[in-house]
Amino acid sequence: MRIETNEPGSMSVAGLIVSLLLLTLSSSASADEHGKNLFLENCAVCHGSSGNGGVGVPLALPEFIDNVDDAYLRKTIHYGRPGRIMPSFSVLNDSQVTAIIAYMRSWTGNKPPVYSADHIVGDTEKGKAIFQQRCSACHGANGEGGRGTGVTFSRPRDLPVLAPALNNTGFLGSASDSMIRETLIKGRKGTPMVSFLEQGLSKKDINNVVAYVRTLEHHPGAKAMKQAAAEPPYLIAESPNSLEKTIQAVKDAVLNANMRLIRVQNLDQGLVDADQENKKQVIVYSCGFNFLNEALKVDPRVGLFLPCRVTIVEHKGKVLVMTVNPKRLSAVFNNNELERLCEQMHQTYTDILEESTL
Ligand code: HEC
Ligand code: HEC
Repeated sequence: MRIETNEPGSMSVAGLIVSLLLLTLSSSASADEHGKNLFLENCAVCHGSSGNGGVGVPLALPEFIDNVDDAYLRKTIHYGRPGRIMPSFSVLNDSQVTAIIAYMRSWTGNKPPVYSADHIVGDTEKGKAIFQQRCSACHGANGEGGRGTGVTFSRPRDLPVLAPALNNTGFLGSASDSMIRETLIKGRKGTPMVSFLEQGLSKKDINNVVAYVRTLEHHPGAKAMKQAAAEPPYLIAESPNSLEKTIQAVKDAVLNANMRLIRVQNLDQGLVDADQENKKQVIVYSCGFNFLNEALKVDPRVGLFLPCRVTIVEHKGKVLVMTVNPKRLSAVFNNNELERLCEQMHQTYTDILEESTL
């Protein structure tokens, strides 16, 4: 609801009080709803509508939610897990993230723990030896996480099989040493991650493992993913030619790249009446069928970005040719095999952009 501000004199005092009451009531009622709705919109597709897990790990398990602090959740939502499936939600503002966290806390109703930000001192060499014995089978030899996408049709959606990547900048940038230690001490009941105190590690061993996990930040795999995440989302080239000439050049370049032309349409086709379409924003759809088949076999989610799209726009006297940046895609999907294909697609797009803007 809205309070009229243009005519303050016209509202009675009683009316004002009622309005303010309604405003507080409706905003407190909607704070919960707001967080829930944001979670449903942004997170449920992977984590399940009540946080019970799916492609993403279950978040509603008490052993998870009651053992992580708000800072960890806030940073995880902000950074995502570059190179894994978990996207970065840097588009959500602070109050939206606060609302989501409040909703997540409502699953158990418990207060979050408070962790010290101090680093835990340990023997990283000893920690590494323990890691290789006790952790690498699930988390990978270098903490790169369970392999594959976790997307299979046979896997029950509420079973988390995929161990998270620990050499991940999103994870290491979000988790304090104390939180990692707590996870090793308590484990996450209801998941394959067990308590390593119960498994016979001493607290000293656990400190050594924590110190080792912290060093994974410097692993080359972590660096490669950081680089991929830092790639710009789009590839853009400016054409010296007219819009019509550039569209033709894109079509030619697509054919030269051994792809089939599917169709050319205005960007807003279907969104506005045909005669209202903006003829200065055009998409050229194309497809390399061998590539498509290969990519879909590796990861069906690639379909989201296919067929290939090259967008040509005339804006403020400039003609621009644009595509998504496939190198960025390899950071979005957790799939090593996809990296090679994204690299290949990046080369094709770069060639098309260069050739059509000569
Ligand atoms: C049997 C497989 C398995 C083993 C062995 C294992 N983990 Fe895990 N670990 C998991 C899974 C699965 C999760 C995700 C749990 C969840 O859904 O919250 C996890 C979660 C974690 C987390 C939290 C990560 C995050 O993103 O919140 C840390 C830290 C971790 N493990 C460290 C270790 C270390 C260190 C060891 C060895 C001492 C180890 N794990 C052994 C499977 C395993
Ligand atoms: C496209 C799928 C996807 C979406 C959407 C998604 N996540 Fe995730 N999320 C994951 C996966 C997968 C992981 C495990 C990371 C790994 O495998 O390394 C994860 C991990 C997490 C973790 C860390 C869990 C742990 O064990 O420490 C949190 C917290 C989290 N997500 C919260 C959210 C929230 C909140 C949203 C919505 C704003 C969201 N996620 C949206 C897939 C997703």
